[in-house]
Amino acid sequence: MTKLTIKDVLAFEVLDSRGNPTVAAEVILSDNSSSLAYVPSGASTGKYEALELRDQDKSRFQGKGVLKAVNFINNEIKELVIGLDPLDQKAIDGNLCKADGTDTKKAFGANSILALSIANLRASAACKSIPLYKHIHSLYKDVSKTNRTPTLPVPMLNILNGGAHADNSIDFQEFMIQPLGFNTFKSALRCGVEIFHELKNLLKNKNFNTSVGDEGGFSPQLKTAEEAIELILEAIKTSGYKAGKDVFLCLDPASSEFFQEGKYFFEGEDKLLDTEEMISYLKTLTSKYPINSIEDGLHEDDWEGWKSLTKSLGSDVQLIGDDLFATNPKRIRRGIEEKVANSVLIKMNQIGTISETMEAVSISQENGYKAVISHRSGETEDTSISDLAIGLAAGQIKTGAPSRTDRVSKYNRLLILEQKFKIPFIKENEVI
Ligand code: PGA
Ligand code: ZN
Repeated sequence: MTKLTIKDVLAFEVLDSRGNPTVAAEVILSDNSSSLAYVPSGASTGKYEALELRDQDKSRFQGKGVLKAVNFINNEIKELVIGLDPLDQKAIDGNLCKADGTDTKKAFGANSILALSIANLRASAACKSIPLYKHIHSLYKDVSKTNRTPTLPVPMLNILNGGAHADNSIDFQEFMIQPLGFNTFKSALRCGVEIFHELKNLLKNKNFNTSVGDEGGFSPQLKTAEEAIELILEAIKTSGYKAGKDVFLCLDPASSEFFQEGKYFFEGEDKLLDTEEMISYLKTLTSKYPINSIEDGLHEDDWEGWKSLTKSLGSDVQLIGDDLFATNPKRIRRGIEEKVANSVLIKMNQIGTISETMEAVSISQENGYKAVISHRSGETEDTSISDLAIGLAAGQIKTGAPSRTDRVSKYNRLLILEQKFKIPFIKENEVI
């Protein structure tokens, strides 16, 4: 039998859901199987993320072009990977990291490296004629000691957008609902969708606008986080679901975004909180409302604050580090050692390869931290994260509101995989 190799690599400058340029790559194998992958892009990016290479040429796309990243794939990266065994994902990713030679992937850009990494992953699944999630799971078995089998994740639907994702005055970035009281992904999603539509009716009746933010959630001109929470609770009730039983609230304040000179500055609410006050504010919210998860409740460098937040809320609430960990195995290890947070947000483009992403998830899961698979606010039609959530048995996925194809495509992929392959649905977060 002839040896399977990477035969060709192509890269393209395409657009993301905000209309900004992003990278797509195609990997073609010697058996002619091939696959395309698209890279997403954040707006509230953490400072410890791998570098997203943009051209900075102000004459094109306000400097956001990605032709340099595309050229790296079409030249240096292509030369590196042609002839390699696509099934050895670890070696391919390792070669790319080594050739880049920087901690932050600033030579080639994480967008070029990740496009290649995912395109190769997808092409490998195609050549094995298996769904992507099965291929991911087969690779993960060699990485993780947890022996998990594939499961459908519980969705976290961001139905009300603020912060950097919307043009309103809400300081918190994301107000999500997590339907936990269901036995299938399909029924959990239906609950989320029905609440989303009820929220729209409610906003209309109260004369708020119903335009949506970057992640497909509504972005009404509210002032406070509590106003947003109250509206969502009302929508849950009118939909006939029970908050705190069928469905829970999850917040992503993305607080690094409004941290100024050592304090948390709530512009919309006109208040300034220090770390201790911020912790007690979050505590008040969780005791008043059925909130079971808070992401980036504190700033990405506030390790002492995070320790104290984890001490006071960590046994009752899922505390997710997004900007704090940046999907970076080193930062996650530090978090585990210092007992900071209890969960990790997983975004492939924060670290730049699928292999390092799997390492980040395995470290988390092996140490009892939950790994929540996540989209970015700038997305594409790429649905790899749906397969990733299933293949790594992550238990939770956060991929926006059930609105706009960049978000819905991920949910649709999950719906189809659940029904086609009868994959079980584990309510991972139920224990909290
Ligand atoms: P981003 O937001 O993709 O704009 O960084 C998502 C998040 O903060 O979780
Ligand atoms: Zn976040």
